[in-house]
Amino acid sequence: MQITPRVFSGMQPTGSLHLGNYLGAMVNWIELQKTHACIYCVVDLHAITVWQDPDELRRSIRQVTAAYIAAGLDPRKNVLFNQSQVSAHAELGWIFNCVARLGWLNRMTQFKEKAGKDREQASVGLYAYPNLMAADILAYRATHVPVGEDQKQHLELARDIAQKFNNDFKGSIVAQGIADGVFFPQPEPVITGPATRVMSLRDGTKKMSKSDPSDLSRINLSDDADTVARKVQKAKTDTEPLPSETAGLEGRPEADNLVGIYAALAHIGKQQVLRDHGGQQFSQFKRSLVEVAVAKLGPIAAESERLMADPAEIDRVLADGAERARAIARPVMEKVKDIVGLIRS
Ligand code: AMP
Ligand code: TRP
Repeated sequence: MQITPRVFSGMQPTGSLHLGNYLGAMVNWIELQKTHACIYCVVDLHAITVWQDPDELRRSIRQVTAAYIAAGLDPRKNVLFNQSQVSAHAELGWIFNCVARLGWLNRMTQFKEKAGKDREQASVGLYAYPNLMAADILAYRATHVPVGEDQKQHLELARDIAQKFNNDFKGSIVAQGIADGVFFPQPEPVITGPATRVMSLRDGTKKMSKSDPSDLSRINLSDDADTVARKVQKAKTDTEPLPSETAGLEGRPEADNLVGIYAALAHIGKQQVLRDHGGQQFSQFKRSLVEVAVAKLGPIAAESERLMADPAEIDRVLADGAERARAIARPVMEKVKDIVGLIRS
């Protein structure tokens, strides 16, 4: 079984996607589909590591799928599906629960953040979450994983799991006819662009996040033009005008964030943004920012809404994607079972 370049990534269906999801990850997904075989997943099994209202979850799965398509991912060219429709994820996730070590998971900062102070009450799923993420990627033996900066540690764990599996089962892998003993590739993170970590509009030191109680902290891909304008206008800033050099953004997290967002939306560097807008007051810069944001996000929101009017069509896209995903994962899972020593029918 040769390892071929393949892209895998996913987002959790826990409410509407936001600008951080879009600029941190999705713009790279859209680029990669031009050159690579890509699999993009709606990771519903990850979402239920914290309790989700069943009706809301169903709606979010469709909404994220609609956003994928509206943002420019072609469901014919790529494989778009939801995780729970392909059993390979849960199966390989269990095998990786037996490969990963407690000590590795204990170091995961996202678990610590999400579990908060009352760790005893966190679900076992939330703790084992990174093992399932490794399974998502490796069930397709994917080689490239475009994500935001916050997923870097999880990607490192996926690499450790791939390596430990290859080591633990080396003899068996070779006996299965894979002469170099390398069954799983080392998946590489793709974390690039001027906005790999988009910060909250209310606090430049906090990540923009779906779970922030304040809706003013984020721009949702489903926001209409007026809402985008209001949120940008209300975004926290300091009192100085914009600097003319990127060095002048140091120690000014809110200014740095807004400049980074502008750069990413306009496909230019931060330096260029400051060449064009350096010396301006925020009130003026924010007007330009609203313009680029609405031009970019408006059509995505409108198209998402149009797609959401026909949920049956979204479900068809997901079912078709799942079938194609299963076809790729099936031979990998058969080999995994043979390597581990499980008897299959
Ligand atoms: P999630 O919403 O946690 O499922 O994240 C989906 C993708 O968006 C992942 O690749 C994250 O790294 C990325 N992402 C989430 N929030 C941000 C953010 N504030 N800035 C940049 N990327 C983000
Ligand atoms: N953990 C990722 C996040 O919250 C989502 C995710 C699940 C993922 N499985 C993945 C991302 C596999 C990339 C590859 O952002």
